[in-house]
Amino acid sequence: MALTYWERVAESRWGRYITAEEERAIVLAGDQVGAPGRALDIGCDGGRWARVLERRGWKVTCTDVDDDAIRLCTEQLPQVQCIRVNPSDTRLPLADASVSLALCIEVIAVVSSEWFAEEAARVLAPGGMLVVTAWNRSSPRGLAACAVSRLRDRKPHPFYGHSYHALRRKLRAAGFEICSEQGLCWFPFSRASDSRLIPVAAKLEKATGLDRLALLSPWVLVTARKGNRT
Ligand SMILES: C[S@@+](CC[C@H](N)C(=O)[O-])C[C@H]1O[C@@H](n2cnc3c(N)ncnc32)[C@H](O)[C@@H]1O
Repeated sequence: MALTYWERVAESRWGRYITAEEERAIVLAGDQVGAPGRALDIGCDGGRWARVLERRGWKVTCTDVDDDAIRLCTEQLPQVQCIRVNPSDTRLPLADASVSLALCIEVIAVVSSEWFAEEAARVLAPGGMLVVTAWNRSSPRGLAACAVSRLRDRKPHPFYGHSYHALRRKLRAAGFEICSEQGLCWFPFSRASDSRLIPVAAKLEKATGLDRLALLSPWVLVTARKGNRT
């Protein structure tokens, strides 16, 4: 099976650690909705989450800005509706209240946008669930990455540009109730690291309770429920 760059990254030790937590949150959020219905995967890449959802009975719509990702996802998952979107779009390409589960996993351009929270709330039906991964500038790792970026590259860091606190405020303002927040990536491994220390670091993160310090965590895995507000 052809793999995209991000699917290969997900097979490194660090990638497998992150993937396991993301998959657990996605499956749990889906189960919280009840019977599988329609789902949206924003930034689908090759379709790894669409595949997980499809296997569990969801009818999935995927979006991505990348032609190759859309082609691969369409070839590998013919039942999934794949929509090529533009980076400048500020609307999700779905009708109001048309899905009961929405994912935005590791899609920096969307999760850090001004429009994301309102749009996610618009396309989700009341009671629907959202699963998001966010980068957190207000974490030790985020602050260090931003300082290095400013000094060395003279520009803002491409991922740690926003605080998780700001995203949480936007989600709540858009009518979401935060259901879970899990801190991730406390230890300074690179995104595709294969270090043998990673399983130990992952265990330590949980054993020490770092995973519960969402507002200070480098990454935050969030699940949120859309309320009944119209
Ligand atoms: C790091 S990959 C994550 C892929 C997938 N969500 C996962 O967790 O494996 C980010 C993906 O988001 C896509 N992307 C970037 N900007 C986007 C946008 N504005 N709308 C939809 N997808 C976008 C990229 O093309 C890429 O496929």
